[in-house]
Amino acid sequence: MTTKTRLYSGMQPSAESLQIGNYIGALLNWKALQETHDAFFSIVDLHALTVPQDPALLAANTRRTAAQYIAAGIDPASSTLYVQSHVPAHAELAWLLNTITGFGEASRMTQFKDKSARHGAEATTVGLFAYPVLMAADILLYDTEIVPVGEDQRQHVELTRDLATRFNARFGETFVVPEASIVRETAKIYDLQNPTAKMSKSAESHAGVLWMLDEPSVTAKKIMRAVTDAEGGVVFDRENKPGVANLLTIYSSITGRTIASLEDEYAGRGYGDFKKGLAEVVTGTFGPVRQRVIEMLDDPAELDRTLAANADRAAAVAGETLARAYDRVGLLRGRTR
Ligand code: AMP
Ligand code: TRP
Repeated sequence: MTTKTRLYSGMQPSAESLQIGNYIGALLNWKALQETHDAFFSIVDLHALTVPQDPALLAANTRRTAAQYIAAGIDPASSTLYVQSHVPAHAELAWLLNTITGFGEASRMTQFKDKSARHGAEATTVGLFAYPVLMAADILLYDTEIVPVGEDQRQHVELTRDLATRFNARFGETFVVPEASIVRETAKIYDLQNPTAKMSKSAESHAGVLWMLDEPSVTAKKIMRAVTDAEGGVVFDRENKPGVANLLTIYSSITGRTIASLEDEYAGRGYGDFKKGLAEVVTGTFGPVRQRVIEMLDDPAELDRTLAANADRAAAVAGETLARAYDRVGLLRGRTR
């Protein structure tokens, strides 16, 4: 029996490649947390379906996402890294939770309001509306104590806490009430061409996005062309030198070195030198990860076996929680679950 704190997080399989913001803002953090926690990480393919997906691409991106997480250091032997749809209990518990979620409560989720405003009422589905409830099911199925997420997901974890508390009050102690652990703002990475906008897979131009699966020469080129300023000086000043500050953040996050030691090293030197140094560091990290991803995807049978074994491990935990919840609300036991 493990006595480590149970931790749960998820990521969408919605791009071919992770970008360096995901790597620094999420993956590096998870990699550290898996050492000290009983960690469950899911690739949330059911969540991805809340906006239109190309079926073949969704399948490919699900595998690619898994491969990237493993190649970058999530250990599928110690962490339970699995695909959400492989564990049917997620959809089943989501239904129960839907029945105790207020329509108004769900309508207040800011991510839903933003996304539905962008897509328009006709293109907005009930699935998108219920997205945070499915996320609550993900978390509650595993008796999760800690949920590491970005600031944008804080409200969804709050909803999860409310639903767990409400269910427990109405039907008896069933769920652990989880806590969000918000990833610190300093780990936020900005677009290299537009260093006041968050780096994102949905950026209009990819010139300022560093993809983990870019060829090293492409990564280097993007870094060399990153927007800086006319002033010169490798100094961290987020207000006046957002481009340089962003490059320093990336450099520091990847190497574990302090910003001050990097400022020292590059004092009196030009941006060209600094960018060259950064390009070496980034390609030195991503190059081998990219190679491993290519190898894994070349023969996906082993990757699929790993994901299946981890889904079995997840299903064993989730199945017990779901059975408990079904009993509580008065659903008859049918087949042995
Ligand atoms: P996304 O798939 O874009 O929602 O990103 C998944 C997670 O990666 C987010 O919840 C963040 O923790 C992290 N992330 C994404 N983009 C960035 C960024 N530019 N800077 C820091 N973290 C990011
Ligand atoms: N909604 C989260 C995101 O877009 C992903 C997610 C789904 C998640 N289920 C989760 C995160 C459970 C933490 C816990 O980033």
